[in-house]
Amino acid sequence: MARILVIDDEAELLDMMQLVLERRGGHETILSAEGPDGLAKAIADPPDMAIIDVMMPGVTGYEICRQLRANPATAHIPIIILTARAQPMDRDAAMQAGADVYLTKPVTMTELLDLVNGMLAERQGQGEGAFAGLVVMMSLRGGVGTTTLAVNLAALLAQGGDRAVCLTDLSVSSGHVALQLGLRPDPNWSSLIEHSEAQALDAESIAALLLQHSSGLKVLASPFFPIVGAGMPVGVVQVVLRGLRQEFDVVIVDGLSVLDDVAMMLLEEASAVGLVFTAEPPSIQTTIGTLRALSQWGEKLNLVLNQVAPGTLPPREALERTLKRPLTGVVPFDAEQARVLGRGTPLVLSNPDSVLAQSVGQLTQAIGRDILAASG
Ligand SMILES: Nc1ncnc2c1ncn2[C@@H]1O[C@H](COP(=O)(O)OP(=O)(O)O)[C@@H](O)[C@H]1O
Ligand SMILES: [Mg+2]
Repeated sequence: MARILVIDDEAELLDMMQLVLERRGGHETILSAEGPDGLAKAIADPPDMAIIDVMMPGVTGYEICRQLRANPATAHIPIIILTARAQPMDRDAAMQAGADVYLTKPVTMTELLDLVNGMLAERQGQGEGAFAGLVVMMSLRGGVGTTTLAVNLAALLAQGGDRAVCLTDLSVSSGHVALQLGLRPDPNWSSLIEHSEAQALDAESIAALLLQHSSGLKVLASPFFPIVGAGMPVGVVQVVLRGLRQEFDVVIVDGLSVLDDVAMMLLEEASAVGLVFTAEPPSIQTTIGTLRALSQWGEKLNLVLNQVAPGTLPPREALERTLKRPLTGVVPFDAEQARVLGRGTPLVLSNPDSVLAQSVGQLTQAIGRDILAASG
């Protein structure tokens, strides 16, 4: 049983929906004859799904849909837009407003119920929020090579053009993703900091914030200058992520440096997390603490040892004993990395035979397992 919100100004249709969804479907309905009232009901107590008519006096269904998407409480609920009109323009408008499905009246009640149940089942199968293509690369300590590995991992997955990949830099202290890719971080997500959650943020406005790298990789860059104060509110990041999820097969996140609401939300939704560290004691200490703080996600955590300076590494077994966890990957020091840093082409692309490229390749096999499996 699910709670389904229906917003339609036609009283007859509301009655019929109620009958079908409750009697035949065994669902609970929340009925509303006008947009603003329906929106308020949805936000006060988020339903599991919403069915919204387009043409209503006052606010259109599209606008209601946009507002539901922009509110973190309702950003993820499946939405069906129902309309009597069938111009292709309307379908685009519905999709841009964030609807999952666009349905043209007349529709039989059996059709509608099948669709509702199908969408609910699909949502359940996906599990709460998990996104198979979302990979978070992080370290609570800087300078360990997190950005370098995120950039190379993303470039490798984007290579060949089989997958749409977006590398998202959430750093609030001057992100280095754009730097490593030779891109000017303009635009970047700073315009979203002041973005009120209730304001519309559609696919088009998210797409307009992305940079294009010559490899095909898209980038949501961090602002060049450090942010004074907080970055994007978690509700906005949620809406952005949802938008990216619709457009991309893979989203790689870099730039998390604290375990704030944004980080915890992303870690929850991620299918894999790469915890990058170096063999220095401060990094190991940070990693032990991070593993403890993130123990609820133990299964998807991957320890990645990266060597940012030349020298000998302690034996892998010794590190695994200290961290009480096997390492997913080890990336040795590669002197070439310093040479390519400012050139805009990551080593996996400019020199696939390099030590770094080879080990990122192996890392991708492990961390990107689900992604590689999905695309055959
Ligand atoms: N495996 C490696 N070999 C050589 N240099 C590396 C390696 N990994 C990272 N670096 C270098 O270390 C520095 C820090 O890397 P960066 O990715 O910016 O770290 P973080 O994102 O953790 O702050 C950069 O100059 C980068 O080129
Ligand atoms: Mg970094």
